[in-house]
This record gives sequence, C-alpha cells and structure tokens, in this order.
Amino acid sequence: MRATVRKYTSAPVSEELLNTLFEQASHTQTMGNLQLYSVIVTRDEEMKEKLAPAHFCQPMVTQAPVLLTFCADFRRTTDWALNRQANPGYDNLLSYQNAATDALLFCQRFCDLAEAEGLGLCFLGTTVYNPQLIIDTLRLPQLTFPVATITLGWPAESPKVSDRLPLEAIVHHEIYAGYTPDSIDKFYAYKESLPENRNFVEINGKDTLAQVFTDIRYTAEANEAMSVTLEEALRRQGFIACPDVKKTPRPESLECDIVRFQNKKDRWVAFVGLLNGRPYEIFTGILDDDEGIMIPKSVSNGCILRRELKDGMRRYDFQFTNKRGYKITIEGLSERFNPEYWNYAKLISGILRYGMPLENVIALISSLQLDSDNMNTWVSGVAKALKRYVNATGADQENMHHTDEIDD
Ligand SMILES: Cc1cc2nc3c(=O)[nH]c(=O)nc-3n(C[C@H](O)[C@H](O)[C@H](O)COP(=O)(O)O)c2cc1C
Repeated sequence: MRATVRKYTSAPVSEELLNTLFEQASHTQTMGNLQLYSVIVTRDEEMKEKLAPAHFCQPMVTQAPVLLTFCADFRRTTDWALNRQANPGYDNLLSYQNAATDALLFCQRFCDLAEAEGLGLCFLGTTVYNPQLIIDTLRLPQLTFPVATITLGWPAESPKVSDRLPLEAIVHHEIYAGYTPDSIDKFYAYKESLPENRNFVEINGKDTLAQVFTDIRYTAEANEAMSVTLEEALRRQGFIACPDVKKTPRPESLECDIVRFQNKKDRWVAFVGLLNGRPYEIFTGILDDDEGIMIPKSVSNGCILRRELKDGMRRYDFQFTNKRGYKITIEGLSERFNPEYWNYAKLISGILRYGMPLENVIALISSLQLDSDNMNTWVSGVAKALKRYVNATGADQENMHHTDEIDD
C-alpha cells in the first residue's frame, strides 16, 4: 500500500533514474498517441523558491530535491501541424480537457513507477489554484497549462496508510445508485470515527468533519475566487476565447475615472468610462484651460452622460460633483478634443465594449505606428491609463489614485 511522502532525505534523484521513469511512463495511454503533455523538472533552489508561493509555501516544495510540473500541452502538436501544412484547431476548452487528461495520466503512471522504485512523492493540487505564477516562472507558452506538481525524493518518513471510503461508496452497478442519509452515515462512519479526524473537528471548534472541509479547508469563497483566476489563466494561455463577444449595452450614465498625465509641457487627461469596474470607453486629450477642458485638480471621478441629439447624433458630457456638492457638467467632450484623438478614441472604445481582454487592448494600442509626437504621446497615455485596470480587483480599484501624474 502506498502513502504520500512529504519529507525527503538530501540524497539526489539521478537524471538517469528520472529519465527511465519518464520513458516508461510515456507508454501510458494518450489521445491519438499525440502525448499532449510536457513535464518541467525543477532542481534549482532559486526556481523552487520562486514556485513555492504558488503552492502556498508548503515546505516540501523547497525541501524536495526535485519538483516536477506536469503540463497539458497542445503547443507542440500545434507547432507540428503548422510546420506540416496542417491547420490546427486546438485553441479551445475541449482541447484543454484532452491535454489535461493526457498530462494527468502520464503523471499518475510516473507516480506509480516512482513509488515502485522506492521514491516518495506528494501531489500538489495547488498547481491549478495559482497557475499564472507557475506559467510566468516556467515561461509556459500559449496552449500549455500546468495541471499537477509532484514533489519527489527519497523518503525521510514512513507515513501510515490513510483511510478510504468502502468500495460500495464509490462503485455503482449499471446505474448511479445515489445516496440516502443512512448510506451516508454508513460510508462515512469509519472516517468520522478516526481519532485524528475527531481531533480536527475539536480543535477547529466545529460540529462535524464535513464542516472542517466546507468552512476551513475548501471554502466556497476560495473556490469561487480561484475559479476566476483559473478561467483567466486558461484564457491567457489560449484555451478559452474572449468572454463577451456580444456588446454590453451602454447605460446613459457611466461611472468615470479621471487619469491625468504629463508629457513635456503638456498636461493630458483621460476620461475612462467604467462598466462594472472595467473600462468601457476612453476619451483623451490635452488639458487646456482656455480652449479645452478645465477640471479642478481635486476631481478624480464623475460620470460620462451620453445624450442622444435630434439629428441622430450623440454627445458625451462629463459631470462631477464639486466640493460644495453642486453638480457641474462639461458639455460636449467630443467637441473639445482634437478630432484625430476623438476618432482613435472611438475605435478603442469600440474594442473595449466587445470585451477584448485589457492586456490585448493595451498591446494593440502600443503597437500602433503613428507619425506625430503628439499622437505617440496620446498612445502611451491611453496605454498607461488602461494598465491601471489590468488584474485590478474591486478592492484594488478603490485604492487606486487616478489623479496621480504618470511620469513618462
Ligand atoms: C488533486 C490533489 C491535490 C492534492 N494537493 C495536495 C497539497 O496541496 N498538499 C499536500 O500535502 N497533499 C496534497 N495532496 C495529497 C493528498 O492530501 C493525499 O493523497 C490524501 O490525503 C490521501 O493520502 P495518501 O496519498 O497518503 O493516501 C493532493 C492530492 C490530490 C489528488
């Protein structure tokens, strides 16, 4: 019987042994015999230190002589296709699922073989809790995704075999049997009677062992937050398309942040219209007290109102509340900026409205090749104004100071 080992001696795990195990494990079943996986071997102490926070700094990450990160990998197959006049179509969720299955089967086979060799190991599910840090540290390209980490070494402990549910709890015949309060009592009785589990319940001040799991170990709040980061990482790695290709309708009034920035002598301002905390439109131009926009320095937000005019045209007004509580409206934002800025602003706002990820919007804006100095300043100002919202949670946004000047 096997058991997870979390403490290792300092004896090295040789490259030769590792390769033998990988070679044997690679004969596990794999979709279309494509081997939709890769494994990254980490031995370097500095690299382990960098990866540790992704695994909530569990001590075996830095203590184990070897760390293995198993990745779902459709990159290699896609590159193969691209180099062989074949059209790959693997930038989708199904392909992620297939590659993740392949990677986990390879990982499990490796684990069986390693344990049979006398090695000790621990599977770290934290890999999918904080994937972005792992992706960045290991420089995983698009169409790859970390799905499992194994800490590996020669055992320095002999843990006891842990309990399992009775077979009848997990095996169903012909159809899924379902559970009743009585069968749940029966299946979980042994687990709940174990002294270590009773102790868990007691020291955590809970009534049942299940509550230790739901309220402490795997809470809804943490699961929901980590689902968001998982989905975001899958999107960045190219396995999920942009979320809303449908345009969200613009309310008549949008919350708006003011971002000021300076270039040489000119003071610039960006009005960033926000829908559910995400930039929806952006208008930018030179702050000019005589001809253009004049806003008191203390004003850092307000709202942008869209007015439908009689002739089918639209006008955008900025409204803020002054220190004395009066609403002040600056009418016709569109009239006050250089028409060239206004036209570009329309294009960028169009992209924002259709939900393109902010990083991509910023990359697109930054890649624009424009002739005049002014336009290049405009581009970098807009990119900087939007960067503030990348990965910003609601709390981050509240703490952001949009009136700070941006140094070029
Ligand atoms: C998906 C998954 C995630 C896991 N994550 C962790 C982890 O982050 N830290 C850890 O110490 N063990 C982790 N484990 C190991 C389990 O705690 C262990 O397998 C379980 O308690 C049963 O113990 P045993 O392997 O000794 O039989 C994980 C196992 C799996 C399959």
